[in-house]
Amino acid sequence: MKKILFLSLLILSYSCKTTPDTKTSPPSKKETGLITEKAMVVSARAEASKIAADIMKQGGNAFDAMVATEMALAVTYPFAGSLGGGGFMVYRKANGETGSLDFREKAPLAATKNMYLNEEGDTMPDKSQVGGLAIGVPGTVAGIFSAHEKFGSLPMATILAPVIALARNGYVVTEKQAASYNHYRSTFNEVNKSQILYAKTFSAGDTVKNIALANTLKKLATNGREEYYGGETGQKLVKFIQDNNGIITLDDLKAYQTVWRDPVTFYYKNLKVISMAPPSSGGVALSQIMKMIEDYSLKEYGHNQLKTIQVITEAERRAYADRSYYLGDPDFYDVPTDILTSKDYLLNRMENFSFEKATASSTLKHGQIPGYESNETTHYSIVDSFGNAIAVTSTLNGAYGSKLYVEELGFFLNNEMDDFSSKPGVPNMFGLIGAEANSIEPGKRMLSSMTPTIIEKNGEFWMTVGTPGGSTIITSVLQTILNVAEFDMGMQEAVNAARFHHQWLPDEIMFEPNAFSTHILNELQDKGYHINERDSQIIGKVDAILKLPNGKLEGGADKRGDDTAIGF
Ligand code: GLY
Repeated sequence: MKKILFLSLLILSYSCKTTPDTKTSPPSKKETGLITEKAMVVSARAEASKIAADIMKQGGNAFDAMVATEMALAVTYPFAGSLGGGGFMVYRKANGETGSLDFREKAPLAATKNMYLNEEGDTMPDKSQVGGLAIGVPGTVAGIFSAHEKFGSLPMATILAPVIALARNGYVVTEKQAASYNHYRSTFNEVNKSQILYAKTFSAGDTVKNIALANTLKKLATNGREEYYGGETGQKLVKFIQDNNGIITLDDLKAYQTVWRDPVTFYYKNLKVISMAPPSSGGVALSQIMKMIEDYSLKEYGHNQLKTIQVITEAERRAYADRSYYLGDPDFYDVPTDILTSKDYLLNRMENFSFEKATASSTLKHGQIPGYESNETTHYSIVDSFGNAIAVTSTLNGAYGSKLYVEELGFFLNNEMDDFSSKPGVPNMFGLIGAEANSIEPGKRMLSSMTPTIIEKNGEFWMTVGTPGGSTIITSVLQTILNVAEFDMGMQEAVNAARFHHQWLPDEIMFEPNAFSTHILNELQDKGYHINERDSQIIGKVDAILKLPNGKLEGGADKRGDDTAIGF
């Protein structure tokens, strides 16, 4: 049921067209994305990409553009953009310095381990996914202020001015967006006590003016971070959450801090991959999968061909089994990242793989580490003319998060608490299973799959990439990288190519429908793989930028959404 809910959200939220019958081979006509000389932003909305590109034209850097994009998505893409969510940023500065910012939500201080279990000990997904109790302490506003304080170059007021104007003057609803708003209208009405801005009937071409959000942004521009984390806006937010049965207090907001973390860094052949460390599972899982597949001849097997799908699936199966057991917030739990990503351990994990027969997930558990005692989203990529690159994935978790909308402040609130493991072995909204490492504790960050990633080739910036898609984030990022690195695609082509996904449990390979050859699917079935072509119309919605051999930038804006690349 939960999986069906998630998958139907995926379908509706991306509201994609029927996938053309590309049938397993790379698209025959080379699809080239926007090419620019100096700088580029690729995000889920054209308005956000444009405002951020304009900020860079004015002399701003990628970090100024990050603030602009994040806030412009809060205006134009309430599906996942908001002042009520959280996220991660991975960066690579022009001088080669790399790092990451964790602005993930946290469990409220009053949270308890079993808060989503009923008297019988069963999980209550309605409490962890919808309404006040589902909300984690938001980190997005702290995230933009931390990024700006450390690396920004233009004044915050200058960066926010065009965003405030956009909120005040309005943005134009797209066809996909109108379908999404209309689909959720009855849920918005059920969850919210009063009629909210988004609970009307929308048509493509309508203009949405969000005056409340314009006013909130103006206050942030004037009063800074504290306006949200303790000031008037924070006080209003806390009252709203508590009026809706939430447990977040002003102390939660005052205690919230972002964390600068060392990213997970590893080599795949001649590429240096820099990705997000726990509390996201993205970097660790990506590293595990890429190291497990590195020694197989994917290029020889061919893009989306039988053996390629088998190798990638089996590596994914093993990485997601480890994810479920070992990964959680490193500030609370000793995550054995070094061992999990060591080549010896991973070679051992793949030892029982055979091309003859699928490994059944029921026969496979997390790997054994000697002596170890255990445990909807949006992405944008930016490159500036100075040579800085960033990858940011941020989220409300599900579509429109908890569905609770703070009318007075102009934004939706997350339902990130569902990313914790409410009960060991019971799947969350994305069908992901967790253990002690990701149990609920006051002030702890819930495990994520977000995988904002930057890649270097020969010591130079090469690609920035990421995607929404819950549990499918890691595998979508993986395939996009491989499409360029192994299968010689350009950025747009790599983003557009059909994708598949395996996450250990449920034990099935999810394929984008009508995009893979029936022959290959039959062969996989014969080898014991379970095929699911029904449940997801699309997998991921990748936004990426590639540095071409001639030094220019190529954008990959996913055709599955309204995503747009803009640059100069
Ligand atoms: N809320 C989705 C994720 O963090 O993976």
